[in-house]
Amino acid sequence: MSEVFRPYEKLVEITILGKTFLVPERNSLLRAFQFISPETIPYGRFCWNQDCQYCRVNCQLSDDDQFRPILSCKFIVSEGMNISELAPELVGCLRTKLGQNGIANPQAPDDQNGQ
Ligand code: FES
Repeated sequence: MSEVFRPYEKLVEITILGKTFLVPERNSLLRAFQFISPETIPYGRFCWNQDCQYCRVNCQLSDDDQFRPILSCKFIVSEGMNISELAPELVGCLRTKLGQNGIANPQAPDDQNGQ
């Protein structure tokens, strides 16, 4: 499993919808999401190739003064990243890790019991 991640020496701290996580440096943000939720991200509808846009997030870097949209499959994670919005596909994949915050996005399509 570890070989899906690019080599890293330490973990960096990022915040997703107000919740803090430690993720491997030198990896894309989408890989960081996979690190957080290895049981869901590999099965999401992600192209991993800057094409589908399902990995889009709104994020603020530690040295930025405002949030901006980025593609998490393209962007390399960095210490202090603060993510304020997730595309619905990511919300679905990360919901159990984010707890109540994960269902705060009104665009989440499948907020039903599905049975
Ligand atoms: S995973 Fe498809 S654009 Fe990022």
